[in-house]
Amino acid sequence: MSAHVSNTVEPVVKAVIPAAGLGTRFLPATKATPKEMLPLVDKPAIQYVVEEAASAGLSDVLLITGRNKRALEDHFDRAHELEALLAAKGDHQRLSLVHESSSLATVHYARQGDPLGLGHAVLCAQAHVADNPFAVLLGDDLIDPRDPLLSRMVAVRQRYGGSVIALTEVPEDRMHLYGCAVTTPLADEDDVLRVNSLVEKPAPGTAPSRYALIGRYVLDPAVFEVLRATPPGRGGEIQLTDALQALAVGGAGGPVHGVVFTGRRYDTGDRSDYLRATVRLACEREDLGPDFRRWLRNFVATEL
Ligand code: G1P
Repeated sequence: MSAHVSNTVEPVVKAVIPAAGLGTRFLPATKATPKEMLPLVDKPAIQYVVEEAASAGLSDVLLITGRNKRALEDHFDRAHELEALLAAKGDHQRLSLVHESSSLATVHYARQGDPLGLGHAVLCAQAHVADNPFAVLLGDDLIDPRDPLLSRMVAVRQRYGGSVIALTEVPEDRMHLYGCAVTTPLADEDDVLRVNSLVEKPAPGTAPSRYALIGRYVLDPAVFEVLRATPPGRGGEIQLTDALQALAVGGAGGPVHGVVFTGRRYDTGDRSDYLRATVRLACEREDLGPDFRRWLRNFVATEL
């Protein structure tokens, strides 16, 4: 069967950010607070992701939420009382911080009633996305704004049509934590690969490659019909990786290309990752970094 190549070159302007997870790895912090609102330094994790979408030109953002996620809506809304208070005090710096999160993008919400997996979360975006190509950003991966990935993926979609995933090489013994892609190189692109097949979280020792999917996707809307027909896979959940496998082997919505990302990425998925990301981001900050690095050097030298 020959690969279906979409001949549409509509710009990608919509981003979907799944945010319905219960965040059990961060209990008790996530008992009453969405995991996406946990701060890295002083900014909620979700804001980094919305900023990334906005700076790639995706100004229409759909958050897939669930129960207990009201704080997300408040965060991206105006906060008139707080703004009036800061304005009256003449605290323009903090005022602009408060204002910023409500002016990054047009943020919409859809609920994922049942926790049936990432593929199902993406399916919840169908009514909003309709017949447009769209990006999916997973909040557990933060991409450093100095190493833009999403705009490159959008450019690859414009060139080849179909769908685009982000790949990074990881050590063999970590492949079971990720979706895994089998690829072939393209003659005229260094950072783009053709994806031939995919497998979600291969059992240890069985990964067919070391290319792991990181949480960025640019998808053809044909993926929705494929997702509808995708049976529950790993963990009994409807897996986006399984739908992409159908696209990669010739289904509508393909071909699938992978952009190899070698830039700075901060994983925040579990507590250790989250602590590392916090320290790295703090070190990078212009306002806090110099002091914090000095303290950290001293801490490492004297206490560890
Ligand atoms: C999801 C995807 C997986 C991907 C990972 C990237 O898994 O299912 O293919 O490699 O995100 O972070 P999760 O980590 O949500 O279980």
